[in-house]
Parts: sequence; structure tokens; C-alpha cells
Amino acid sequence: MPIQSRITGLGFHVPPRTVTNHDLEKVMDTNDAWIVERTGIRERHFVDPGTGSSDLGVEAARKALADAGRTSADVDFVIFATTTPDWMFPGNGVIVQQQLGLGTVGALDVRNACSGFVYALSVADAFVRMGRYRCVLVIGAEVQSTGLDLTTRGRDMAVLFGDGAGAAVVEPCEAPRGILSWALHSEGALAKELWCEAPSSREAGRVTHEMLDAGRQFPQMNGRQVFKNATTRFPEVIHEVLAASGHTLDQVKLIVPHQANRRIGDAVAERLGVAPERVFQNIERYGNTTAASIPIALTEARAQGLVNDGDLIVLAAFGAGFAWAGCVIRW
Ligand code: UT7
Repeated sequence: MPIQSRITGLGFHVPPRTVTNHDLEKVMDTNDAWIVERTGIRERHFVDPGTGSSDLGVEAARKALADAGRTSADVDFVIFATTTPDWMFPGNGVIVQQQLGLGTVGALDVRNACSGFVYALSVADAFVRMGRYRCVLVIGAEVQSTGLDLTTRGRDMAVLFGDGAGAAVVEPCEAPRGILSWALHSEGALAKELWCEAPSSREAGRVTHEMLDAGRQFPQMNGRQVFKNATTRFPEVIHEVLAASGHTLDQVKLIVPHQANRRIGDAVAERLGVAPERVFQNIERYGNTTAASIPIALTEARAQGLVNDGDLIVLAAFGAGFAWAGCVIRW
């Protein structure tokens, strides 16, 4: 039997502080009705000062390990996907290695934004299938709130994002179970349609007063361009990974997409011609948590009884880069 890899444990963690749309109304010119209608988001979680994305990631990782019935001693590799690391360098992977007491295992950092978790999962799958590692911890975690312009100037971005973390344990298994196919794509020509310029290695001192005054340390987005590309790329990559694994859409139990916007999720269901309830959405309570959104959603979907042994599950992501990715899993 060929060796494949599968997710043996899942966990997520969000900071305790809930920020509702009404809370945002107090600091910027926005309103609950606009946010709900355009995005489906009602609330998100924000960290309190001093908490970094590694802290959230460590908590999610502990839960995923417990869920897999594993301990720190079992982990032989770590992959940490985040766009919001604690520091410029080193990456969050080594912080997890130290916090969880993982000996001197390798720690890899992935920066593919909203697609980061699927990119990281594909690396874990490749490493496990080649027989190099047997228990890979894959984490997606973000603290977006400290990098948002929480004023009217930044409202188009600020209302969308939240903080959180999700994690998966990836271990060998025998076919036909496990990760069956994945696809990774990017289109850098559209990089500046969703980006954050500063701090930048192109600038002496990385960030200048002029940059700060202009708000170039905050993420910028062409929302319509993102929406248009997302609603095309999601269905495209879902068809691609299903063709690669030899399945059809009607065999899929649940699609778990990156949670960017409820309208994007609904449009993807419509374009694919699947019932909306087959596309899992929990953005209402978390906002867009970037690399964390898929593992958070997958953990919740399983807890709700929507992901069971033998089910065919599709993960799909689209975001900054642009980068997008998909993955088919036989649970
Ligand atoms: O992972 C990828 C992350 N990004 C996304 O997924 C975002 C994809 N894009 C979208 O979801 C939508 O483009 C948005 C929800 C971001 C925006 O929706 P839209 O229908 O494209 O709105 P818009 O940017 O064209 O703005 C419409 C109006 C504007 O006012 P005027 O010019 O019509 O008077 C904006 O100034 O809404 C205004 N607006 C807001 N109003 C209240 C923009 N942001 C806000 C806000 N609250 N937060």
C-alpha cells in the first residue's frame, strides 16, 4: 500500500475578546447593516495588547495534538503559516518549537496569506509521503487587529479581519484514506491589489515617517478586484483538485473554503452548482482570519458532525499574492 498522509488531529483558538460591528461603529464611520450585508460578518475576536500570533498558534497546536492523541515528543516537524508573525525574523515556527518543547525539530515558515494553510498542508503531505517525517504540526495563525487602521480611513479593510489560530497534526496513513490531491497557484502581477508595503527592505530603516503618515504600514485592497478573482479562482481550483483525485463534485460531502466574505462563499456555491449548505461558512463569528480560517472552519465543521470518517472533503483558498490553492481529503 502506498503511504499517504492524513490529518489526525485538529484544534483552534481565538482570543477571548469579541469585537462586534457595533463596537467598530464607535471608532469609525461604519455600521452593522453595511458590514453584514456586504460581508456576512457580525463579530470577530481581537487580542489584548502583548499577544502575538505565535501565542494563538501554540494554543491551537496544543489542542490539535491532544485531539490526535499525540504529545510534543511525537512531533518531528513544524510548519507555521502566518502573514502576521511576532517579529520580522526569526519566524513563528521556532517560537512554537521552543514553547512546546519540541527538541530541535525543523521549523518552516509560510507566508502565503489566506492560502497559507493549504500551502503548508501540501508541504506536510509531501514530507510525510516521502517518508521523511511522521508527525508534522501545521499551524495557521494571525493577529490582524494590531495592523489594521481602525479609523474611517481604513474601514474597508478594518471591518473584515479578525485574530485566531487553527492547527492540524499530519501523520502517515494507508490509501485510500488521507490527502488525495492538491494544487497551488499564484499571480504576482496582481500583488498590489491586496498588499501591505511596510516595513520594507527597499527602504533604509525599513519604515519612514512619511510612510507612517501615509498609512503605508496598513494593508491596502482593491476589494472588487479581489472579489472578482476569488469567485473565479475558487471554483477553478476546486475542479482542478477533484479532477486530479478522480472525483466529481457530487461525491464531495463538504467544501471548506477560506473565509473571506460570505458573499464570496455563496457565489462559489452558486458557480459550482452545489447547495449553499455544502460550503461551510463561519465568517459571521470570526471575520477573515487569513491563514487561520481554514483550520478553524475545519475544526468547527468536524465538531458539528459535518466531517466524518470516509467523507470526501475539499479545502480551497484564495487571497493576497494573488495566491490560491485547493486540496482533496478522504477523511
Ligand atoms: O482574503 C481576501 C480578503 N478580501 C476580501 O475577501 C474582500 C473581497 N471584496 C469584498 O468583499 C468587497 O469588495 C468589500 C466587502 C470589501 C466591499 O464591498 P463593495 O461592494 O465592493 O463596496 P465598495 O468598496 O465599492 O464600497 C461601496 C461603498 C463606498 O461608498 P460610496 O463611494 O459608494 O459612497 C465605500 O466608501 O461603501 C463604502 N464603504 C463602507 N461603508 C461603511 C467601504 N467600507 C465601508 C465600511 N462601512 N466599512
